[in-house]
Amino acid sequence: MPIAATPLRVLQVTDLHLKTQPGSRVWGVDVDAGLSAVLARIRERHPVVDFILVTGDLVGDEPDAYERVRQALEPLGAPVHCLPGNHDFPAALGQRLRDGLVRWQRHVIVGNWQFVLLDSSFPGTPSGHLAPSELGLLDTALAMHPELHAMVCLHHNPIPTDTPWLDTMTVGNGEALFAVLDRYPQVRAVVWGHIHAEFSARRGDIHLLATPATCVQFKPGTAEPQVDELPPGYRWFELHPDGRLETGVERVEPARMPASARRAPT
Ligand SMILES: [Fe+2]
Repeated sequence: MPIAATPLRVLQVTDLHLKTQPGSRVWGVDVDAGLSAVLARIRERHPVVDFILVTGDLVGDEPDAYERVRQALEPLGAPVHCLPGNHDFPAALGQRLRDGLVRWQRHVIVGNWQFVLLDSSFPGTPSGHLAPSELGLLDTALAMHPELHAMVCLHHNPIPTDTPWLDTMTVGNGEALFAVLDRYPQVRAVVWGHIHAEFSARRGDIHLLATPATCVQFKPGTAEPQVDELPPGYRWFELHPDGRLETGVERVEPARMPASARRAPT
């Protein structure tokens, strides 16, 4: 395994909510326009990346939209590692994004970093849960590679983010996740989507990070769902060989966010 001399360059995009019909809207926001703006900015600012991470809600409740996800992301020319969210269909995702540049990936090693992609979706509920098999996958990956810095990726937030209506839809057994992570000092970050907002916290040396959706944004701190006027965005990472992590969020105009909304797409 070659050891990277320079930082790994990884991007996170999340919560695409694509539908089969181009121009579909979620909470009044054109999901294709948001994604197109984000991808255009990525092509402009990040012509060379090691890979792109997509942390769930690739589609908005339409399994036939996975082909549009592939068509949108493949032209980036980099590996795109996906995982499912609560608006996805894990079986269809696994079948339709099984191979090629854009696919569901469980475990990735690049340079001296490893990335574990967990499935926190649970049938019939927007809330998250990590099955014993997911926690076992994580435990095994971390135990096998204590020499590699680790990033854990999932869809749902494993901790509350001070937004009461969203905090009812966290990973229900988040403490089980941290019980695993706390045994492995090489863990550098846990990253997720789901909340359609930027979020940053620390748990000891572990960065806890959420990233804006490519479609509608939610206002943090509200008791009821409220659309945020901020435009869509993505997150960049520079992951150094010594385990240092640099990161930031880029937002991309334009996206006019309506104040009215009918249905929560978290
Ligand atoms: Fe979402």
